[in-house]
Amino acid sequence: MRSDIPMNPREIQVLFGKSDAFDTPKPERLINRIVHVATNTGDWVLDSFAGSGTTGAVAHKMGRRWIMVELGEHCQTHIIPRLKKIIDGEDPGGVTEAVCWKGGGGFRYYRLAPSLLEKDKWGNWVINKEYNAAMLAEAVCKLEGFQYAPSDAIYWQHGHSTAQDFIYVTTAHLGHDQLQQLSDEVGPDRTLLVVCTAFRAKPDRYPNLTVKKIPKTVLSQCEWGHDDYSLRVENLPKAPPKLGQMDLAYGGGTDGGAVHGG
Ligand SMILES: C[S@@+](CC[C@H](N)C(=O)[O-])C[C@H]1O[C@@H](n2cnc3c(N)ncnc32)[C@H](O)[C@@H]1O
Repeated sequence: MRSDIPMNPREIQVLFGKSDAFDTPKPERLINRIVHVATNTGDWVLDSFAGSGTTGAVAHKMGRRWIMVELGEHCQTHIIPRLKKIIDGEDPGGVTEAVCWKGGGGFRYYRLAPSLLEKDKWGNWVINKEYNAAMLAEAVCKLEGFQYAPSDAIYWQHGHSTAQDFIYVTTAHLGHDQLQQLSDEVGPDRTLLVVCTAFRAKPDRYPNLTVKKIPKTVLSQCEWGHDDYSLRVENLPKAPPKLGQMDLAYGGGTDGGAVHGG
């Protein structure tokens, strides 16, 4: 790569003011050249260490779709305001003129939850203590392909996959009496997936129930504890996320597919 494109802190100072945390932001022209060589309009550009968001900013102005990942608070203070300005056509700096950018598009912002499982001191997988009951139910619904929709009236309806098929997520250890009671309440015209920490009963005694254990069912659907990025999450609901599941949706929105949940 030729180095005739100087670092240009001005681009970012125009957006965020003079005293900024980023002393050596990448020049938009450099990223523009790389994105131009490596991608076509509509392609995805991933920057998993987003920093001040230059790569996503340039990709957006060039008509590429993008995913940025950032663990620092500057996601809030820099990346989101920067992309909002670009979408609103209020970023005069960088490659705006060169790529004839006038504004438009949108993005979704997700905050990742902590990992759902952790190992206890004996090395057994257990549910992360940071998860409360609602977070756990929502995460398991997502993993099992159910729409999270907790009922105010019926304690075992945490979500559904159809009008007759429901999911119940609990950290309780269930015995025959509890499972029989659930089975009676569900009745012959509905089915229920029960995801619990443990159960002591023969699950095939209840024709309308499917019973699974939480660490096992989660571990079987995700690669866990590996030192690589081949995370496999199956059965995600096909429906677009609801507004309540997003921390922020901006502009026209995209079909970005990040999930809230570890
Ligand atoms: C040098 S900046 C990247 C610049 C950026 N790619 C651009 O287009 O201007 C590196 C960023 O990676 C972030 N980072 C470091 N480790 C991370 C991780 N594990 N996950 C997400 N972001 C991370 C840091 O907070 C920092 O903001």
